[in-house]
Parts: sequence; C-alpha cells; structure tokens
Amino acid sequence: MKLLRSGSLAALLFAVAASLCGQPVNPLEGDGRAIRGGAALFRAQCAACHGADAKGIANIDAPDLTRIWSRQNLSADAVFGSIRNGVPGSIMPSHSLTDTEVWMLVAYLQSVAESGVIGLPAGDISAGRMAFVESCSKCHRAHGLGGSLGPNLSSITLQRSLASLVASVRDPDASVRRGYKPVRLVTSGGYEINGLIKSEDAFSMQLQDDTERLRSVTKADLQTVERLSGSLMPEFAPFELVDQELFDIFNFLQDGARE
Ligand code: HEC
Ligand code: HEC
Repeated sequence: MKLLRSGSLAALLFAVAASLCGQPVNPLEGDGRAIRGGAALFRAQCAACHGADAKGIANIDAPDLTRIWSRQNLSADAVFGSIRNGVPGSIMPSHSLTDTEVWMLVAYLQSVAESGVIGLPAGDISAGRMAFVESCSKCHRAHGLGGSLGPNLSSITLQRSLASLVASVRDPDASVRRGYKPVRLVTSGGYEINGLIKSEDAFSMQLQDDTERLRSVTKADLQTVERLSGSLMPEFAPFELVDQELFDIFNFLQDGARE
C-alpha cells in the first residue's frame, strides 16, 4: 500500500500520543484523503460481504456498517479491533493491514455513518444549549463550550444509542468510561491527590487531578491507592432535569455534530 506513505508516521505518532492520553480516537477521522483511500480498500476487501455502499447485501449475513455507530456503544478503537482481528465465531475475517490502513477504513466508515440518535424526540436547540451551559459545561466540552474533566460530547450523539445516552445521565455509576475512573492517592510524603486515571502500568499512573492538571506518579512513591467505584459525574434525577430538558440538550449536541 503506497497510499499515505508520508502521512503514516505522523498518523502513527498521533495514535501513540492519543493512546497515552487514554483516548482512542481515530487520528485520520475526517481526513479526505484517508477517507478516499479507505473507500478504495473497502471496495477491494470488504464490499463482497458488506456491500459496495457498506449497507449490507441481501443474502449475506454481514451487518449494515453505516448504522453501527448509532446503534451500539461503539468506539473507533473497537471498530479498529474488529477489522484487525475479525469477529471470532463468524465469517468476518481478520485482516493483516497496517495500522494506517485500518484507520483509513475506520475513517471511511465514520464518513458514511448514518448520523444522529435514532428515535431522539424533538427538542429546542437553543434551550438545550442553555441547559448544557448551566448543568453540563462545567465538566464537558461541546461545540466550543465548556471544561475538560469529563469527555468531549461534541460527537457523542453519533456514537451512542438514545438509551445509553439517557443512562449516562440518569445513572452515571452504572458504566464509567475508560480514562475516567476516579482514584484517591496519598504519596509517601503524606500529600493527597484526587483525580482520574488516564492510564497506568505496573510502575506508574498518569492522572488528571481535580484542578485538571495532568500528572504522572510513580507507584513506589505512594502510601495508599484508593480506587473509587462510580463516576465523578453526578446523577441527574428527572426532578432536577426533566426528560424534555435532557432531549433539548441532546438535540443541541446533535445539531452541532452534524455541521
Ligand atoms: C467474508 C465476509 C466478510 C468480509 C470479507 C468482511 N466482513 Fe466484516 N463482518 C462480516 C460479518 C458476518 C460480520 C458480523 C460478525 C458478527 O458479529 O457475527 C462482520 C462484522 C464487521 C464489523 C463489526 C460490526 C459491529 O457490529 O460491531 C466491522 C466493523 C466490519 N465487519 C468491518 C469490515 C471491514 C472494514 C472489512 C474489510 C477490511 C470487512 N468487514 C470484511 C463479514 C465480512
Ligand atoms: C461534575 C462533572 C460533570 C457534570 C456536571 C456532568 N458530567 Fe457527564 N461525565 C462526567 C465524567 C467525569 C464522565 C466520564 C465518566 C463516566 O463515564 O461516567 C461523564 C460522562 C458522561 C457521558 C458519557 C460519555 C461517554 O463517552 O460514555 C455523557 C453522555 C454525559 N456525561 C453527559 C452529561 C450531561 C448531558 C450533563 C449535564 C446534564 C453532564 N454530563 C454533566 C462529568 C460530569
């Protein structure tokens, strides 16, 4: 594959940097050249089962790949994994492609994604923007507004089902996203740090502390490590944020994500 030779080192470095931050994003998402390259690879290697337009073929039991993003709790790196490793127990084969080629395929699939939350009730976008600023922007960034304690929500409506979006707000403790698990540490000097574990290995931990500063600690220097179950995100009960306000917020998020 000669495509994107020159860009591939930059893409790889970007992917490594992104994975160190604990945020598996596609380094090639939205890149026009990568999308065209991914489309060509798709026609050659995937269309026989998934259809030339990725929407599936009548007689073959391979999924419509334009709907996977909104149907499931699916991240770009999970799709990367399915393409690289195949799906065990099915005819979906593994592929010995380079990382760059797999990200090109993911970029292509992201570009043909049917956008929007299926079944999202209508809402008032400007009311949603105000509710977002009031209740969510302290911790979340979206469409240029807000903080960074929680994940950026600019494209969340393209990646999650309505049920999982609602569950994230009504019951955040039920599933805490990787890279956002809270921890309380006490260093051997008696200094306490509260933060989120961005990544860790046997010897060290990378944290975002409660002042949003990124720091790295050596495990040998710690007195205690208390892993807290649950999310830093507060639970919003329906009496605090009624369903319609929540749908307004999702409509605001979705409106910006389509641009
Ligand atoms: C021989 C047929 C076949 C080929 C070739 C094939 N796939 Fe698949 N693919 C499948 C089937 C069948 C499944 C469903 C597996 C399951 O979940 O049971 C699948 C699943 C997937 C999924 C996971 C979808 C989900 O719901 O999570 C992705 C992503 C995917 N394929 C992408 C690709 C890409 C990209 C290529 C080409 C590089 C490709 N496939 C080539 C048959 C194929
Ligand atoms: C005090 C900070 C805080 C506030 C306020 C907050 N969140 Fe969160 N939120 C988080 C954190 C941290 C996470 C990641 C941990 C997790 O998965 O629960 C998160 C996760 C989420 C997720 C899941 C994201 C994903 O990728 O899985 C959604 C959706 C979400 N928040 C929506 C909202 C909405 C809508 C509001 C306002 C009504 C809001 N949040 C208010 C901190 C906050």
